[in-house]
Amino acid sequence: MSHIHIINHPLVQHKLTIMRDKNTGTRDFRELTHEVSQLLGYEAMRNIRTELVDIETPVAPTKSPVLSGRKLALIPILRAGLAMADAIADFVPNAKIGHIGMYRDPETHLPVEYYCKLPTDIETRDVFVLDPMLATGGSAIAAIDLLKTRGATNIKFVCILAAPEGLAKLRTAHPDVEIYTASIDEKLDDHQYIVPGLGDAGDRIFGTK
Ligand code: PRP
Ligand code: URA
Repeated sequence: MSHIHIINHPLVQHKLTIMRDKNTGTRDFRELTHEVSQLLGYEAMRNIRTELVDIETPVAPTKSPVLSGRKLALIPILRAGLAMADAIADFVPNAKIGHIGMYRDPETHLPVEYYCKLPTDIETRDVFVLDPMLATGGSAIAAIDLLKTRGATNIKFVCILAAPEGLAKLRTAHPDVEIYTASIDEKLDDHQYIVPGLGDAGDRIFGTK
């Protein structure tokens, strides 16, 4: 079974509470998505490799670590994942960004793929799939299926909120994928929305609806 990392740092939890509040407007919600995504991305990248290089400080020569090993790919699931990719790319500007377009059919709640453009060397990269919401798990599973058919092997999934139902499905479908989230909420409602959740992440980030 894949490992689940719950990022229960007070800064993340505080910002998440404001995101959940229905009175938080688009501008603040987008800014908080950015900040929380950076904090989650920071944790998700904790084990990426470094190597020591020789440098000289103004005071003395020393050996100091720089990022090394496999290059990175950030893969937002459209639309809502875009805000996470922008945020995380701030501190790994050399990462390539691929896009997977998925929307949930409003009747069946099943994911419908409408776009896919990935880095051509995806199989050589550490891949971070980004989507604020893991609800039924359908979108995440379909996106990771697609990435694996294109050769991606080392995949982590980063979300802001997860429902227990979606987590269980994702872990069964892709036991090799580590999952990072700020919270595991209570359940899904009849419309397959996360409870208590934060509503529709895409609509709240982009101000639609
Ligand atoms: C939301 C969310 C995930 C998906 C999660 O996207 O951003 O992609 O639902 O639900 P699931 O785990 O049940 O698949 P949505 O379909 O609303 O599309 P949008 O980002 O374009 O608004
Ligand atoms: N997608 C969202 O944006 N929110 C949910 O609660 C479920 C799916």
